[in-house]
Amino acid sequence: MINNQYSHLTPPMGWNSWNTFYDRYDAALLCSIADCMVDTGLRDAGYHYLIIDDCWSCRSRDNEGNLVPNPEKFPEGLRPVADYIHDRGLKFGIYSCCGVRTCAGYPGSFEYEQPDARFFASQGVDYLKYDNCHRPSSQKSEMLYRRMSMALRETGRDIFLAACQWGTEDVETWIHSTGAHSYRSTVDIRDNWESISSIAGKRLASLAEGRPFCFNDMDMLVVGMNGGGANPETSADGCSFDEYQTHFALWSMLNSPLIIGCDIRNMNDETRKILMNRDLIAINQDPEGRGCYRLSCDCSPDAFTLVKPLTGGEYAMGIFNFGENRVQTGFTFWDMGLSAHANIGLSMYDCLKQKEKGTYREFFQTSLKPHACKVYRCKPVRIS
Ligand code: GLA
Repeated sequence: MINNQYSHLTPPMGWNSWNTFYDRYDAALLCSIADCMVDTGLRDAGYHYLIIDDCWSCRSRDNEGNLVPNPEKFPEGLRPVADYIHDRGLKFGIYSCCGVRTCAGYPGSFEYEQPDARFFASQGVDYLKYDNCHRPSSQKSEMLYRRMSMALRETGRDIFLAACQWGTEDVETWIHSTGAHSYRSTVDIRDNWESISSIAGKRLASLAEGRPFCFNDMDMLVVGMNGGGANPETSADGCSFDEYQTHFALWSMLNSPLIIGCDIRNMNDETRKILMNRDLIAINQDPEGRGCYRLSCDCSPDAFTLVKPLTGGEYAMGIFNFGENRVQTGFTFWDMGLSAHANIGLSMYDCLKQKEKGTYREFFQTSLKPHACKVYRCKPVRIS
């Protein structure tokens, strides 16, 4: 992690209740998730935020206009849960909405920005996911995200503002100046390859969008859901190992927040392997937070390479096959800026196999199954 006075320089990592639990969670379940984040090593791998999504409050505010945690889910309120989470070295996230109601119909924060922000701060909240449903039609979301950002700043507590804006109203042109720390620019994810590839496709069309202090959020991860989960809006048929691996590699390369959505209490070895790949996490968390550029390949319109410059002179290289057939693909170093006369090759480390691949000159080629990927960390080296 970076050791300076700033926070939120790298994409947030954590877990969120929505994909798997929908409205079916309570304090005890959240505490068991906190324990699991510690016991499985997820916390130490960088996953720090435990985020409660929609459906945590009562259907109405109290007579003073305060939000009220649902007493069946939180018999002692939110604070003991927040304390439990903090005691385990984790951070506490919660959800609200810039409209009059949340997407699931609970009270939203429209015109209650200041009191709600103060309530969140008093409960030890470190992260607010702020949704975009049920806005009065006269209100632009730019103003409403600005309002909540000001309200959070006014509390004096460092609260990450995750704008869940879905990509309307040219969000990327104004979201940075609202003070939000991340923003959703795509529709909700589902647990299938169609959803993953379509979100990535939209993101690939504007590669420069995410940067330190305001990362582009491609939505929560579906890795490990395997077709399960209680949420009818997210659950689908699931993905193969290669597809989940590609999903995680894309989100890592493209600087998306890495927010797990599966039931981590039942992770299998494949899920663990994907979510805890320290080399992909390091690419996602690279301190410079640079975007990728894209190299296409004559071999297939569905194969491409993403290149991301890393701190310290290395490069992350992700090679992807979105097509339905195996492809022989790759890239020439010339396209990265290396002339064949420069006598510079690339020393490549395979981030998925976690071992050195060797030193290559002028070009690199590989074979990829449908929906599969390879990711390398590359260092330019002098060759004679
Ligand atoms: C919207 C968001 C989702 C989730 C739900 C909750 O659809 O995009 O991520 O928070 O609302 O109702």
